[in-house]
Amino acid sequence: MAIPGETAWDRLSALARAPGAGAIRPLLDADPGRAARFARRGAGLLMDLSRTSLTEEVLGALLDLSRERGVAAFRDAMAAGVAVNGTERRAALHMALRAPPGTFAAGAEDASAAVHGTLSAMAGFVRDVHRGTIAGATGEAFTDVVNIGIGGSDLGPAMVARALWRPGMPMRAHYLANVDAHAWEALRPSLDPRRTLVLVASKTFTTQETMANAGLAKAWLGRALGGAAASAHLAALSTNLPATAAFGIAPDRVFGFRDWVGGRFSLWSAVGLSVALACGMDAFAELLAGAREMDEHFLAAPDAANLPLLLAALEVWHVNFLGLPARAVLPYDERLARFAAHLQQLEMESLGKRVTADGRPVRSATGPVVFGEPGTNAQHSFLQLIHQGTAKVPVDFVLVARPDHPHAASHRILLANALAQAEALARGRTEAEARAGMAEAGLPQAEIDRLAPHRAFPGDRPSVTLLLPALTPRSLGALVALYEHKVACLGAFWGINPFDQWGVELGKQLAGGILPALEGGEPAADAATAAMVGEIRALWS
Ligand code: F6P
Repeated sequence: MAIPGETAWDRLSALARAPGAGAIRPLLDADPGRAARFARRGAGLLMDLSRTSLTEEVLGALLDLSRERGVAAFRDAMAAGVAVNGTERRAALHMALRAPPGTFAAGAEDASAAVHGTLSAMAGFVRDVHRGTIAGATGEAFTDVVNIGIGGSDLGPAMVARALWRPGMPMRAHYLANVDAHAWEALRPSLDPRRTLVLVASKTFTTQETMANAGLAKAWLGRALGGAAASAHLAALSTNLPATAAFGIAPDRVFGFRDWVGGRFSLWSAVGLSVALACGMDAFAELLAGAREMDEHFLAAPDAANLPLLLAALEVWHVNFLGLPARAVLPYDERLARFAAHLQQLEMESLGKRVTADGRPVRSATGPVVFGEPGTNAQHSFLQLIHQGTAKVPVDFVLVARPDHPHAASHRILLANALAQAEALARGRTEAEARAGMAEAGLPQAEIDRLAPHRAFPGDRPSVTLLLPALTPRSLGALVALYEHKVACLGAFWGINPFDQWGVELGKQLAGGILPALEGGEPAADAATAAMVGEIRALWS
């Protein structure tokens, strides 16, 4: 019962203090209909929240908190093109990237018109590259595309190209992000410069790593084909036209986007060109359509049925009320091997904040640590800790019902494992059950006593399962957009700006100062850095 003056936060705190607040197994045992009651559908995805400690009461209080914190109002402001990214005075209009013409405006600008202009330029370029009417300097058709970018200019397209590429698709896509030139050296032998198209993907076109790698690739093209010919092999994906021109990229080879597209939300913009080249423009359009379907769901579905809002609300319950500061993402699909890497940036760069949007210290925990690997590999790696460690780590399972290979038996094994993990985490195995199992297997009593504590599982470990009918461009678009919107909702829940990333600046600045020291100039100001620079330089001499 609500007490006058009591906030949803107070109510949730009280619910979290109540005995058995984090328990899951008793909820599953008490209610055989729980799976159905805690399942939600949207944009072709099924989201099962039943293996969490959510109750109707907790969920109700979380949705009240969402109203008190203005989550829907924040969503609507974002959709209206309001400058929700306050520190950078920018809108966050990634939804415009996948919307029909005339749907979104950013201030005075018709955002959709700009988006559709770029999309048709991309479609024309992709068509001409595939036809060979845009070809390399020697007249040979491009077979390989190398996307050089980092962070949001790499992770999204790299993840999607890996998920969607099938043999026989138009081109092979490669991704070069790390300034560690071992990455370039590993990639180079697989490329023929005559048939390689290089996309320099950088919103700012100033990112040190990307510009260094772009320089290596340009020099390699120049050595193989002649300096003047290199430009036929280059294109840029950027908002910074003067810098792309200065790098030698012709204006008709620059695919732009606006500053209201954040790096980690830019996959749907020109930054996705490598996906369109590798998998086809139709696949890219389907990816956008899937994301659009999730956008429509997010904008219209009532709170209690709204997938991104519910996923965010659950995270608030876990992080703020149950004190769980990490989450694992386990896609049971090898093609989604880079999905967790994409979410690491999307979620941690967005939500790793310790001051509110207006600059005051936050009063509660914010974004959790996010990590993951595909299943079943994860089972033989870190899932031990998640089952039996002292830390409770909620898990997102991503399952794909229908594979695109003919090995049905392998797929059944894969899915059985995923379902088993979710069940084991939630239900666990009591010591009594462990003892009974060993007795049934005929183990001597002394052995049972010795092993029972090790073979017991505490259970009550939460997980969400997302089910995709198949891994298609459309379902993947919806899945990625689900997490994007979850991030926006969490920004509103916590009162932080999910669209800036000041935390990446300090290291960048310091690296600029340390570089001269490594080159033998002024010693680094910090004593520990100076000492390490000395050690490194001694090993160079
Ligand atoms: O890591 C910081 C960051 O600014 C990310 O937000 C961004 O995705 C990445 O660097 C790359 O930036 P750019 O596209 O401007 O090269």
